[in-house]
Amino acid sequence: MRTFVIGIGGVTNGGKTTLAKNLQKHLPNCSIISQDDFFKPESEIETDKNGFLQYDVLEALNMEQMMSAISCWMESPGHSVGSTDGRSAEEIPILIIEGFLLFNYKPLDTLWNRSYFLTIPYEECKRRRSTRVYEPPDPPGYFDGHVWPMYLKHRREMEDITWEVVYLDGTKPEEDLFSQVYEDITKQLEKQKCLQVTA
Ligand SMILES: Nc1ncnc2c1ncn2[C@@H]1O[C@H](COP(=O)(O)OP(=O)(O)OP(=O)(O)O)[C@@H](O)[C@H]1O
Ligand SMILES: [Mg+2]
Repeated sequence: MRTFVIGIGGVTNGGKTTLAKNLQKHLPNCSIISQDDFFKPESEIETDKNGFLQYDVLEALNMEQMMSAISCWMESPGHSVGSTDGRSAEEIPILIIEGFLLFNYKPLDTLWNRSYFLTIPYEECKRRRSTRVYEPPDPPGYFDGHVWPMYLKHRREMEDITWEVVYLDGTKPEEDLFSQVYEDITKQLEKQKCLQVTA
């Protein structure tokens, strides 16, 4: 069955979940899988020499479980939890996968029909993060001692990516980001339709 898989990666508090939810509201037959739902329990998270829990690394995530959720969706696209319940059954099923460590995880590389990456500057990221309460809450110094350095490391790893990633300025208003990405997805879907007609 035809499907269209969208990756929304990016820095913590870049607006990934917000953008994914806004897109889902306007795209027919669209499901979301959030990487944040696949964190291992705290007891399985490593600690560094400063006592910081190492949450912002792939090892903190149960990626096998996330891959199973994706495979499950692929086997029966458009029927999984979180779908806009088949508003238009004839529309190509769309899956949005959103998370902070998507494009560093090799098994996902061949999946993307379109990849987006939200960035915001250090100060804005630190400010937004300080307004959130995570479970467990960020201890003092966690942003500078773990979160941001890990983000920089992952950005460096992304330099090896061979496919196109559309970088998005996460400081733009929510509505502008939505419009920009929605228009782009619409274009990409049209392109895919044309390719299928000529094939
Ligand atoms: N375009 C935007 N402009 C300003 N603030 C935004 C924008 N998008 C999201 N926010 C705010 O930034 C915070 C983080 O948003 P969101 O949860 O969507 O980000 P995220 O990238 O999914 O974060 P996380 O790393 O926790 O998964 C929220 O308080 C949200 O209201
Ligand atoms: Mg999120």
